[in-house]
Amino acid sequence: MSIIKGFHHLTAGVRGAQEDVDFYVKLLGQSLVKKTVLLDGEDPIYHLYYGNPKGDAGTLVTSFPFRQKGVKARPGSGQIRVINYSVPQGSLDFWRARFEAHGVAFDHEVVERFGEQRQRFHHPCGIEFDLVASDRDARMPCVAEDIPEAFAIRGVHSITLSLREVAESILFMQEAIGFRYVGESGPYHRFETADGTPGTIVEFQHEPDRLQGSSIYGEGTVHHVAFAVDNEAQQMQIKDKLFALGYIDTSESVNRNYFRSMYFKMPGGVMFEAATTDIGFAIDEEPGHFGEEFQLPPWLRERKDELLGRLEPISV
Ligand SMILES: [Fe+2]
Repeated sequence: MSIIKGFHHLTAGVRGAQEDVDFYVKLLGQSLVKKTVLLDGEDPIYHLYYGNPKGDAGTLVTSFPFRQKGVKARPGSGQIRVINYSVPQGSLDFWRARFEAHGVAFDHEVVERFGEQRQRFHHPCGIEFDLVASDRDARMPCVAEDIPEAFAIRGVHSITLSLREVAESILFMQEAIGFRYVGESGPYHRFETADGTPGTIVEFQHEPDRLQGSSIYGEGTVHHVAFAVDNEAQQMQIKDKLFALGYIDTSESVNRNYFRSMYFKMPGGVMFEAATTDIGFAIDEEPGHFGEEFQLPPWLRERKDELLGRLEPISV
């Protein structure tokens, strides 16, 4: 059995910060769980965390608004192509009407795959999203004044990776990180861990002719996926397993203030992360007040005014 419990978070590079807040909070009913900065590099870029009100692992999608720095990433293979959110069955009509009303780009055809209906729509920066209708998701609904519980997003359902070659990556999912192979459907391959409910599912989309995308931090691509593990000891268990198989391109355990991160590349080129659940968002804001104030890790706190002064003001 895998020590990976499911997703922790997904991280994408987007355009402007306010447009991103409007997409996740106003359109999708997500809570802004934390407002902080990217911890790599010199220039301040926001790091915005969205998820359910409790900030539970598996509901989190985070953004770096890179328009400010003018860096564009190139979509392609070797990347996470689609972020899939889980919604209740029977909710897709509601969401289509909402996308129409909000001027959000969406596909006019509902697609079915692995027995689940899916509705494609697009983030303003171009990143693709699917709403996947599932009756197997018992997680807390992300309700809003105009998003009733019957239609509300429950969290991340799955991710869809675009891969030029899949053979070694199919083995990697099973042998290196302990996912189960569920099956294939046309160019798609599906894997799951833990109980196989939404939040534990990874899909490959085999696209042999799609050119390789970039792996920089920049606007317009999903940069990486983080899977949830308990603690640093479990990160090191994964690292040891990867080394034993020859996958020695891994990071140390990095302090990300709210969790620790260990990064590793899967054979198809997608950046994976094992993030720990032993710290959490309550270290600098009380539960019920997540995301209210701009937060910095202890080592940057004395620069708060300077950093905030270099970021676009956002309202939630
Ligand atoms: Fe991450």
